[in-house]
Amino acid sequence: MLLHGTTLSLPIRSPLRFPSPSITHNNHNNHHLRKFSLSSSSQHTYAISDEELASRGFLFRRTIENLNLDQLNSVFVAVGFPKRDTDKIKVALEHTDSLVWVEYETTKRPVAFARATGDGVFNAIIWDVVVDPSFQGIGLGKAVIERVVEELLEKGITNIALYSEPRVLGFYRPLGFVSDPDGIRGMVYSRKNNRNN
Ligand SMILES: CC(C)(COP(=O)(O)OP(=O)(O)OC[C@H]1O[C@@H](n2cnc3c(N)ncnc32)[C@H](O)[C@@H]1OP(=O)(O)O)[C@@H](O)C(=O)NCCC(=O)NCCS
Repeated sequence: MLLHGTTLSLPIRSPLRFPSPSITHNNHNNHHLRKFSLSSSSQHTYAISDEELASRGFLFRRTIENLNLDQLNSVFVAVGFPKRDTDKIKVALEHTDSLVWVEYETTKRPVAFARATGDGVFNAIIWDVVVDPSFQGIGLGKAVIERVVEELLEKGITNIALYSEPRVLGFYRPLGFVSDPDGIRGMVYSRKNNRNN
């Protein structure tokens, strides 16, 4: 997520609740565009296992090795994020604690992405959650969030926050995120407001 949203989802304080299994729809001709159903991988229960993703041509990646940052930038732009300097994205990723992306085997291009920064112990913030528009609605967004959150929880990091645009609150809620927990409100430094002071 970028900081152009206005609604802040603050830390979850309880274990992640995974949503109920998604119904498999077969209304797409391409097999990779079918929604994924609940399945367990070797260690975790995710909406879609790494193995099932791979069988559909989606390869789960956890490092920036082989990640083409210009192509990633193109996905950001395709979903409406402002185009950013690729060199700065590289620096941001080098300062990222947890990162997951999905490579589409056919094109070798990134089609889904999410990352988290934090202090490595207590707190993390999830950023830049995107799915290429051609691949939205088939479970990839849920898949990357589940894995980023799981990796953070495995590190003992339980204060996990993100910024959500209003139109995607319904995407994050079933993944365990709540708005304004216990009435706590997020605040973001605004250069615009301070210029007016
Ligand atoms: C938001 C986004 C990451 C979701 O990814 P996706 O791959 O399309 O979502 P999924 O297919 O994994 O959907 C998972 C579930 O969330 C639901 N969902 C997806 N987008 C939703 C939305 N905007 N509002 C409510 N529910 C949503 C799906 O219906 C699905 O429900 P189900 O599990 O009951 O079947 C993707 O649409 C995207 O990249 N949007 C543009 C960028 C953006 O807005 N990023 C977030 C910035 S805060």
